[in-house]
Amino acid sequence: MTGHVAVGNARLHVVDQGTGHPLLLVHGFPLDHTMWRGQMDDLSRDYRVVAPDLRGFGRSDVSCGTVTMECFADDLAALLDALRIDEPVTYCGLSMGGYIAWQFWRRHGQRLSRLILCDTRAVADPPEAVQARQDLAQRIRAEGVEPLVEAMIPKLFGQRTREQHPAVIDATKAVIRATSPEGAAAALLGMARRVDATAWLPDLHVPTLVVCGEDDVISTVAEMRQIATALPQAQWSLVPACGHMAPLEDAPQVNQLIRAFLAGCAAA
Ligand code: MLT
Repeated sequence: MTGHVAVGNARLHVVDQGTGHPLLLVHGFPLDHTMWRGQMDDLSRDYRVVAPDLRGFGRSDVSCGTVTMECFADDLAALLDALRIDEPVTYCGLSMGGYIAWQFWRRHGQRLSRLILCDTRAVADPPEAVQARQDLAQRIRAEGVEPLVEAMIPKLFGQRTREQHPAVIDATKAVIRATSPEGAAAALLGMARRVDATAWLPDLHVPTLVVCGEDDVISTVAEMRQIATALPQAQWSLVPACGHMAPLEDAPQVNQLIRAFLAGCAAA
């Protein structure tokens, strides 16, 4: 099924394909579900893959103001309700999708059976980053999303992707250019207000796969290793020659990691 689902006061666009254990794919900022295109068809051969566009992104409804990580997490729980998915899911989030994962665990922990954290962070923004997000939100409300393309694209991809796969970068630019300025601004302000999840990590007793592109400059290898070390049940995986968008940059490698992780969990 591909279409819109009503959750609270918004309609979320979602791709729901395959059968079996549910795998919820939560995209990063300022993207949409298409960043998981290398995962959806492959993994839906064995899993029920649910890939929404978050509120304000892709073809989902836009909310004005600030959309917090808590709100996104509640939307996802409501989406699972609407899709009648009662079984605890594997939550796989990239970057902002990971920020939302901390809240999903805190607020809807009974719905979580496994966690896959791709290129994400646990810390909150320091004051200068909060200011930068506020300034960028104001700019894109005034000028449109082009400043986002300029701010994000140079940081998202590893060198190999930049040199050998320009089409991937062009497709990502097109997704950002199609994003609603209000939707992106609301998420920027929400990320600026997110709480530091570092102290929660030792209590997150959920089998977790931590995936990091080795050239990631947003959520660095050192920082992600610390997350993996602090989590009680984490497996660590470095994806060679990838940046922040590892699942998009090397889908076969990331899919293999996800499959091995889920098979290991099933066997345990
Ligand atoms: C993302 O990929 O979701 C963003 O890089 C997150 C951020 O801006 O902190």
